[in-house]
Amino acid sequence: MPNDLSQKLQSIYGSSPDAASFHATRYNNLQRKFQAEFPGHHGQFFVRAPGRVNLIGEHTDYNGYPVMPMALDRDIVFAAASGEGTAIELVNENARFERRSFAAEFPVIPFEQGDWGNYVKAAVQGLLEAGLVSKSKAVGFQAVIGGTIPESAGLSSSSAMVVAAALAFLAANKAAFDKKVLADVLGRAERYVGSEGGGMDQAVSLLAEPGHALRIDFFPLRTEPVPLPKEITFIVCNSLIRASKSEGVRHAYNRRVIECRLATALLAKAIGQKMGKTIKATRLSDLAGEQIGFKPAELREIAHQAIGEQPLTLPTVAQRLELTAEQVQSEHCMQGDGTPLQEPPDGFRIWNRYNHVVSEAERVGLAVKALMNGDIAEVGALMNQSHASCRDDYEVSCPELDMLVSLGRENGALGSRLTGAGFGGCTVHAVPSDQVTEFLRKMDNSYYQGYVKRERSRPFTPYNNLNDVRFSCYAARGAEFWPADEG
Ligand code: GLA
Repeated sequence: MPNDLSQKLQSIYGSSPDAASFHATRYNNLQRKFQAEFPGHHGQFFVRAPGRVNLIGEHTDYNGYPVMPMALDRDIVFAAASGEGTAIELVNENARFERRSFAAEFPVIPFEQGDWGNYVKAAVQGLLEAGLVSKSKAVGFQAVIGGTIPESAGLSSSSAMVVAAALAFLAANKAAFDKKVLADVLGRAERYVGSEGGGMDQAVSLLAEPGHALRIDFFPLRTEPVPLPKEITFIVCNSLIRASKSEGVRHAYNRRVIECRLATALLAKAIGQKMGKTIKATRLSDLAGEQIGFKPAELREIAHQAIGEQPLTLPTVAQRLELTAEQVQSEHCMQGDGTPLQEPPDGFRIWNRYNHVVSEAERVGLAVKALMNGDIAEVGALMNQSHASCRDDYEVSCPELDMLVSLGRENGALGSRLTGAGFGGCTVHAVPSDQVTEFLRKMDNSYYQGYVKRERSRPFTPYNNLNDVRFSCYAARGAEFWPADEG
């Protein structure tokens, strides 16, 4: 391994000899495979984009409220080189993902729904549309891709793919960019795959700082690094239930985004009636008490009157908004793919969603302060409250996530919660740093060797190595690219 690559990898992954040789092997293998797949290419470069674990602030981003994730030292890496024409050619190290190619020509027509190549297309389409790469002069790239982020686990492997693909496309075109602008563009660009996601995942993958969590505020995007106290280690435990953004989860996720939009419209209408004027609001944060000059208790009272019964049917929503049902659908229920979300059989659960979002937003502010003050007991308590709210009001948990969370607390975590969109995927646990080994051993016995073995009828994802399903998190720095021959 060239010494400069070794230094580069040490600066990214830390200097433990194990980590250094593990990552050196990964990068060298990708480079060798690139030379075998695409012989004769010069000007090769590497791109890496990390996954993330969200510590608190779930389903708040698309409502305009803050989040606090941290980037992981698990990432997606491209060994790539710019091409001569517009062709983009992709080889994934993981044989489950077949080779893909397409032209960097606007508009980029998606592959079939669920195809992994759509995450690369999302980035390319987003950059062309935003003018960050010129539509008329774009050149493509060739890449061999490898990754260490567990998939469909709520750790943002898909957003890391979008971010890495965007950086590869920018590097291939030698296009200058600002990371914050890029994060904003990519937050929207990923909706290409049909999910109405917020901007958290792309922002933290790009803008994270090592050793820190990142408080992110939206509209406009702002970030603040939050130092992580040494006494606490965040541990991820995968429930082994798949939560794939490109499968059924997309519908459940979009439903909640739309229920929040309906909450916004109904609340804006009610506030407008109270104030005798029209209130314009795009998302719930536009209607926070401090924005519109109401005290929290007054605002809650208005909200309770406007949306406080459960569930609400489409005709009731329409009547309150003084619209027809069709107008409600076309103005508030449209999904990224141009189809309206149908009224769920159990109605829109608007009050619960509202309660989760406003309480979770408050918890993010408190958790940032608690981390800054090193008050780890308070961080844990807020994580526990967040899980209860995600489970009961936002209804994004499942029996396995609830089981992991309660085992986590029994086994010594100060706080445990689901992380990411939910419906499966991972939990995150705040564990005193001197109890990490003990905690992992207890989780292995109680969940992976216990619950998972007992509940044979559940669709658990098989795994080879326990270190890929439960692990300590090291806060990595944000995504980057660099020329391969410069280390
Ligand atoms: C997914 C989305 C994010 C965010 C989380 C839930 O990860 O991509 O934008 O909404 O779900 O907090």
